[in-house]
Amino acid sequence: MTMHTLAIITGASRGLGQAMAAQYLAGGGFVLGLSRGQSAGLAATGPGGLEQWPADLSDPLPLAERLAAWLADFERRAAGRLPARVRVIHNAALLSEPGDTADTDPADLARSLRVGLEAPVALTAAFLRATAHWAAADRRVLFVSSGLGRRAMAGNAAYCAQKAGLDHFARALALEEQARPHGARVASVAPGIIDTDMQRQLRGADPKRFAAQATFAGFHGSGALDSPASAAAKVIALLERDDYGANPVTDVRG
Ligand SMILES: NC(=O)c1ccc[n+]([C@@H]2O[C@H](COP(=O)([O-])OP(=O)(O)OC[C@H]3O[C@@H](n4cnc5c(N)ncnc54)[C@H](OP(=O)(O)O)[C@@H]3O)[C@@H](O)[C@H]2O)c1
Repeated sequence: MTMHTLAIITGASRGLGQAMAAQYLAGGGFVLGLSRGQSAGLAATGPGGLEQWPADLSDPLPLAERLAAWLADFERRAAGRLPARVRVIHNAALLSEPGDTADTDPADLARSLRVGLEAPVALTAAFLRATAHWAAADRRVLFVSSGLGRRAMAGNAAYCAQKAGLDHFARALALEEQARPHGARVASVAPGIIDTDMQRQLRGADPKRFAAQATFAGFHGSGALDSPASAAAKVIALLERDDYGANPVTDVRG
């Protein structure tokens, strides 16, 4: 095994996650993608490789166990030649139906929180434990956050909460990892507004349930949305910076 980068990316089937996976693959990295669907558009090139797991992150504990076992097997197959760079990008998110919490099915809210907050925490713990002794590898963890984790919006409260949760998890986790030998570098990163299915869902929501629908329609109408490829390049550029993790809560827009 000679690849220089291992990138584990949740939600790699479409949108921002697929674009980040494509960019790591194009650079010769090995990508492990986790999402319910598979991307037919991704292909391994160069010395890397691609593995896509059909994975429902709303049930994260079996996935955390599977990830730990996969990393142990990856290490065994690497036979002492582990990649120099190991990246975990928690990108997947699942919106509950936009609307007030009082009008939303609690199961819908719980599923969204499990995908957007519980899964990143559980998978991060499994990853850090399985790779703590990979002393020569530069290990970095990135949580894809949102401006809505830092600014409240009615009609998306569970989403706001999970992104604020990721931000504060990153702050605390960074303190833990800084105190450990060869600790991982950690940050929670807002990626800007991007032309993906998530934006389509928000601007397609019922304005009677979701007052901010017009804001999202306006993003699209005014051409304010970034392309997935452009946003992916910005997130990856930040993740690959020498000072990554110095600020554990950050934004690609500076
Ligand atoms: N788009 C924006 O303007 C914007 C702005 C700020 C932040 N973000 C953040 O950027 C990240 C990517 O968003 P996006 O816009 O690319 O969204 P998207 O197009 O809706 O893609 C979401 C991804 O998450 C995966 N996912 C959803 N539920 C899942 C589940 N239960 N199990 C496994 N995977 C699941 C989806 O895969 P499957 O459906 O195949 O499972 C898909 O790959 C998210 O964290 C989002 O909050 C986006």
